[in-house]
Amino acid sequence: MMPSKTTQTPGRRRGIFITLEGIEGSGKTTQLARLSKFLREEGYRVVETREPGGTPLAERIRGVMLNIPPATPSEHLIRHPAEPITSECEAALVFAARAQHVTHVIQPALQDGAIVLCDRFFDSTLAYQGYARGVNLRTLSILNRFATRGVTPHLTLLFDLPVERGLARRRRHDAEQNRLDRETRQFHTRVRKGFLALAAKEPRRLKVIDAKPDPDRIAADVMAVVNTFLRKARTS
Ligand code: TMP
Repeated sequence: MMPSKTTQTPGRRRGIFITLEGIEGSGKTTQLARLSKFLREEGYRVVETREPGGTPLAERIRGVMLNIPPATPSEHLIRHPAEPITSECEAALVFAARAQHVTHVIQPALQDGAIVLCDRFFDSTLAYQGYARGVNLRTLSILNRFATRGVTPHLTLLFDLPVERGLARRRRHDAEQNRLDRETRQFHTRVRKGFLALAAKEPRRLKVIDAKPDPDRIAADVMAVVNTFLRKARTS
């Protein structure tokens, strides 16, 4: 696998897929922007994206999944204001969005030799819908293969910090809380444990980054991990 620098010989067109994961308030979105800037300055072509979302339709699915109310509530919503989303529906929405995203954004960018930086991907599905909601992990993996046709991250950065700190940070920075932000502390604890279990299962792909220090220190750790990965990718 070879990362595609804009300065590189054309012809080798295999991109690199990096995902950033973590509980709410782990700082991954801030770190994604910093990593993107760093890689662009190094001469790489970078595509920044997120899940659920990344295409117009997938962003609409995100709105439904996170229960962000439509601008004008429809008659139906007024008559049925509290229709809870089932775990199965939540999972299906995530995969519907992912199928659009992989086909229209991620795969073309990788074929074009870019580095794709994605804010959340399948590990979030396993952590939230699997470990936290209790949907069967094998079922999720099968549905994921169906949605992605096998597109898998080469490297995943897991930003880890205690749930209380993450939720407090989220409340400070984001005035608007979505449906999942409002879940219980126990739910978010299961999500964190799920992520750590995934990291233990796949230590070569999933690298745990301590998300407690200040953003500059975290960014330095991120660059170190990504540089090591890119060096290895260049020589393999
Ligand atoms: P965020 O990206 O702003 O953190 O919000 C996305 C929310 O969606 C977050 O609460 C995690 C949730 N989510 C899932 O539950 N399953 C998934 O597969 C993905 C990608 C996100």
